[in-house]
Amino acid sequence: MSERQKAADNRPRVTTDEFRAFVTTGWAPRSDAPPARSPAADYAARRRAALSAAYPGQRLVVPAGGLKVRSNDCDYVFRPHTAFAYLTGLGADREPDAVLVLEPNAHGHDAILYFRPLATRDSDEFFGDARYGEFWVGPRPSLADIEAELGLSAAHIDGFLDAATKDAAHVLVRVVRDADHELTGQLDALRVAQGRDQQEAEVADDELAHDISYARMIKDDYEVEQLRAAVAATRDGFEAVIAELPTLNGRGRGERWVEGTFAREARHQGNGVGYDSICAAGDHANTLHWIRNTGDIADDDLILLDAGVEVDALYTADITRTLPVSGSFTPAQREIYDAVYAAQQAGLAAVAPGNTFSDIHAAAIRVIAEHLYAWGLLPDGIDVAASLDTEHGQYHRRWMVHGTSHHLGLDVHDCALATRSEYLDAELRPGMVLTVEPGLYFKSDDTLAPERFRGIGVRIEDDVLVTATGHENLSGHLPRSSAEVEKWIARVQGD
Ligand code: GLY
Ligand code: MN
Repeated sequence: MSERQKAADNRPRVTTDEFRAFVTTGWAPRSDAPPARSPAADYAARRRAALSAAYPGQRLVVPAGGLKVRSNDCDYVFRPHTAFAYLTGLGADREPDAVLVLEPNAHGHDAILYFRPLATRDSDEFFGDARYGEFWVGPRPSLADIEAELGLSAAHIDGFLDAATKDAAHVLVRVVRDADHELTGQLDALRVAQGRDQQEAEVADDELAHDISYARMIKDDYEVEQLRAAVAATRDGFEAVIAELPTLNGRGRGERWVEGTFAREARHQGNGVGYDSICAAGDHANTLHWIRNTGDIADDDLILLDAGVEVDALYTADITRTLPVSGSFTPAQREIYDAVYAAQQAGLAAVAPGNTFSDIHAAAIRVIAEHLYAWGLLPDGIDVAASLDTEHGQYHRRWMVHGTSHHLGLDVHDCALATRSEYLDAELRPGMVLTVEPGLYFKSDDTLAPERFRGIGVRIEDDVLVTATGHENLSGHLPRSSAEVEKWIARVQGD
């Protein structure tokens, strides 16, 4: 018996016929006014059309995924699978257990969204189902609501498995496997029973997942607009943190205060944070994905804040600023900061059509290596060229072990299924959105680092749109250079 079932059995709710009759009546009629058409609807239709053209005659199944248990009968807030969000335009917490099916027809595909529509008020679900019921989690859309909002056909989820396996001897069925493991298992069993080879099915399925991931590499106008909104909200989150900096010295677990301050803004303006915020003061900045955020913050610390608001449409920003808590950099902090800034400038300058994605890293890491060499930190006899040698060198990576860039969109590390030739080695094209985020990290116990540098970590990260002639720094309105950052802190705190 599942913990969820046990929890339900431990706290039984008595449902008499009298109560059922009473609770299901006496409600004003529901409005049958259709919801407004989603601004994403036409864009999602175009994305589906592109996929349709690549898979003529094949049935494509893209699940949203189901609710995930947090503990016994409590679920995490739902977030749909990215492929589903991309192809439907649904965001935020919609719709658990839904499945998009692209059903082949003579001209392309029909799009049908199978989901669990709002239950009628004479159902037990209405008042009695703590996971799905309107009394407990609020109303869901009806079939007609979804059709009006998204401009596709809607059907009850109960009809999904039959529809997905219908005529399977003649129709190749592909499913995005990792979106919903339970549903994929059911589909696998039915496909195998219909004579399909499991391994071949999985290869075919992975091709579909890859193609949807790769298609996201060029953002459409709606996506760029959403990313701009995510960046604007993220700026507000950073400024909310900056306003709090003077209160942090001596406040235990100041990193958690920073995390909460940013999260409040993220949840208020958008769906939440697009990934766990990295709120890393002092030496914690040298842990690249420091998300425990348990540390105290002192006045002479830098705080590295790597955070992004995810808007309701699920596009996320990913921005890092490294801020002096006191409002001014110490000489050693500034020395490192300015080196990272120079590396970021070089990386940004490489963001232009014609260059490859890898050129961004190459440009930034060269500047990092040059500074490390000038500081005398590379091993004896190793100059910049020797360190940059990818066969035998790479000494500089001790102080910046991560890459400089990744694609950004619905996922913070977007387009993750693209191949090396489609990603790292590919030419930059207008419409790509990516980060440029070099850093330098000197751990407090790094005996090869000068003492003045130990315990200091700096990263600067911006979100950049590739344009026809170069790039636009979408987060360029957040101050970046050491002097601008100091002025920014003074201005926000003076407000
Ligand atoms: N912002 C975290 C990362 O890019 O890995
Ligand atoms: Mn990043």
